[in-house]
Amino acid sequence: MIELRPFVAADFADLISWIAGPDELTMWGGPGMRWPLDVTQLAAYGAQSGDRLRIWTVMHGGKPAGHASMSAGVNRWTARLGRVLVAPHARGRGVAQAMVREAQRVAFDDLGVHRLGLGVYAHNDAARHVYERLGFVREGVTREQARIGGVWVDSVEMGILEPEYRALVPKA
Ligand SMILES: CC(C)(COP(=O)(O)OP(=O)(O)OC[C@H]1O[C@@H](n2cnc3c(N)ncnc32)[C@H](O)[C@@H]1OP(=O)(O)O)[C@@H](O)C(=O)NCCC(=O)NCCS
Repeated sequence: MIELRPFVAADFADLISWIAGPDELTMWGGPGMRWPLDVTQLAAYGAQSGDRLRIWTVMHGGKPAGHASMSAGVNRWTARLGRVLVAPHARGRGVAQAMVREAQRVAFDDLGVHRLGLGVYAHNDAARHVYERLGFVREGVTREQARIGGVWVDSVEMGILEPEYRALVPKA
């Protein structure tokens, strides 16, 4: 149902169309993207893709339905999931959960990391719910890390360790 395939230039227009305004851009891209999102920024982002940064378009039912990235250290001890977004038309159908589950499989089975981490803005209840459901544990808070909707918002650091993942998804 879900496939993570490499993000390519042909995906830029879809991604730009899925992000409605500056607050949504920050929710997705953090401090690394400037409104309005454009092809130049996405080309520079896409060019970072490689062994240490995987950038994905999420396919659902054969159509582009989201985006995510995963960075990993050279020693493969840890990886970080980022830039999670589900296209507005595909939300509320379990796409994020399936996507994060597949990203966990890539991290723990393919890359062999010990820890998968992420950051989520504290007021993003839907995203936090998805991560908690899939075993991510709240580890700490970075206070007032971004400005969204005219107010400073905290970022919550979350992580899941390999034994915690295996308790949920036993090794095949
Ligand atoms: C957050 C986001 C990725 C969720 O994608 P999605 O495909 O709609 O998520 P799913 O359908 O897989 O799951 C959503 C879950 O959150 C729950 N949920 C939705 N809104 C919620 C809210 N306000 N509070 C708590 N839970 C909420 C749903 O009930 C569902 O859980 P359930 O299956 O246990 O009922 C999507 O809304 C999005 O792309 N938002 C904009 C970008 C963003 O915030 N990215 C996250 C960056 S960390």
